[in-house]
Amino acid sequence: MTIAQATADQAAQAVEETEPSFEDLARRVDDAVRAVAALEDPARRVADELKVAVEGIHRAGLVSIVRRMRAHPAARELLFELVDDPVVRLLFSLHGIIRPDPMTEANRVLVEVRPQLQSHGGDVQLVRIEDGVAYVRLEGACNGCSMSSVTLRNLVEQALVAGVASITSVQVLPTEPSPTLIPLEALRIGSDPAAEGWVKAMPSADVPVGGLSAAALTAAGGEQAEVIVVNVHNRLSAYVNECAHEGLPLDNAMIDIANGTLTCPWHGFCYDATSGECLSAPGAQLEQLPLRLDDGHVWVRIGS
Ligand code: FES
Repeated sequence: MTIAQATADQAAQAVEETEPSFEDLARRVDDAVRAVAALEDPARRVADELKVAVEGIHRAGLVSIVRRMRAHPAARELLFELVDDPVVRLLFSLHGIIRPDPMTEANRVLVEVRPQLQSHGGDVQLVRIEDGVAYVRLEGACNGCSMSSVTLRNLVEQALVAGVASITSVQVLPTEPSPTLIPLEALRIGSDPAAEGWVKAMPSADVPVGGLSAAALTAAGGEQAEVIVVNVHNRLSAYVNECAHEGLPLDNAMIDIANGTLTCPWHGFCYDATSGECLSAPGAQLEQLPLRLDDGHVWVRIGS
């Protein structure tokens, strides 16, 4: 490390140590908002106008930074990481640069009530949100017409309506029979997979349960595709690595195996991880690709 680098690092550390904490800043904002609300009308209008004007400048700068970073692969990676920072995420949400995702919000709410449901032998699965209605499936003790079942259902409904602004009511869907899972080893490939457009994508061990793996593939016929392979309870699915929203890559998507969903890290579009159906925007869909397993490897067909 050079002396100049060491000095720069020390300076950066000193700045970091003297920066106020996020909690202090948030408290300061809350205090200022309360003080503005207590002003006489004309003064309050001036203060509000000042706030809108300053926020407008900040938003314009942030939009410009995000656009430039998205245009360069290395900077885009960094942007992915930044969006994971809660403060940056909050800032982007406040300025409308990333959309809050109701599915993610609702799942967070359900994480809070789930221990109570499970302590009574029940559980809940969020299926989708449409036009303000949250569709859920209830399991175990949450089903039925006993007093405790009704109480548990009410608990889910109240938590979702109170905790997610865009949810106005909750509908319970009939319980589905559990899908039959096909053991990975049972799926075998034909004699000449490459001639049929199959490409060896990755060792199946690279896609653990609840994870995903991305790969750039080229078929024997020259076709190319960026793909992701997702594993939900040992059910593997392959998709073209493009979100249906703005076509951005899904390498850093979040997989929720409890709900079987995949959430795009860019603006929070949420998908059924095993079918690619978009749960945030009905009609949108990830492009699914045929997938098979052979000799401990995942094969994806991208050619004809
Ligand atoms: S690119 Fe916008 S949600 Fe995925």
